[in-house]
Amino acid sequence: MLGSGWRTAAARMGEVVAEVPMVELGGFPEASVAGHGDTVRSIRNGDRRILAFMGRVHLYEGHHPNVVAHGIRTAVRAGCRTVVLTNAAGGLRPGMTAGQPVLVSDHINLTGHTPLLGPNDDRLGPRFPDMTTAYSPRLRALARAIDPDLEEAVYLGLAGPTYETPAEVRMVAAMGGELVGMSTVLEAIAAVHAGAEVLAVSLVTNLAAGLGDDALDHDDVLAVAARSAERMGGLIADVVGRI
Ligand code: HPA
Repeated sequence: MLGSGWRTAAARMGEVVAEVPMVELGGFPEASVAGHGDTVRSIRNGDRRILAFMGRVHLYEGHHPNVVAHGIRTAVRAGCRTVVLTNAAGGLRPGMTAGQPVLVSDHINLTGHTPLLGPNDDRLGPRFPDMTTAYSPRLRALARAIDPDLEEAVYLGLAGPTYETPAEVRMVAAMGGELVGMSTVLEAIAAVHAGAEVLAVSLVTNLAAGLGDDALDHDDVLAVAARSAERMGGLIADVVGRI
């Protein structure tokens, strides 16, 4: 699942054997945010098969959490056992810099939503999923073996679409959030629920509001992501190649 600015990463994953617009698969809405693609690629990498979602559905677009999680559930039902989530995030931990990839070690879901609300569909997963190791220690170790400079951090998910106020950023920090963003947590919940192993990588595109010098702008976020695309693409391709 490739977030803002991560799309070029897909080019390094292997041979594309099919590409279909998500809308044609059913259950996906039209894409609406600049920088987010709208196709799913089926990629062959040796004896591995990869489904790369060239964009994602966000809560702030007005979609139900089940629609946000639809891609994950579709992938898992299609046979995917590992889910790799990427995103752009604001960095809060001192020393973080724009352009730095960070492994998500854990999350705090402050979106106020979950894709598990309502009667549980036992075919998908259990009523009360354990989230103790939601972000697979095994996959994080594998990513760090490839790039020992990778740091880990707690991602705090908010609904957006406003970037945070400086007061909200102080709140996020006080709660233990080290990265802040508008995606990933609902997808991670759906993936854990469905029994998939999850790896999430954030690209720090900016210091969270009030910590940097400038106001936040989506175009700047995309520009930082584009500049880091090569390194990110290599990292994700290497990790996927070794899963
Ligand atoms: N806040 C929330 N979402 C984001 C940010 C941020 O600072 N940067 C990129 N996505």
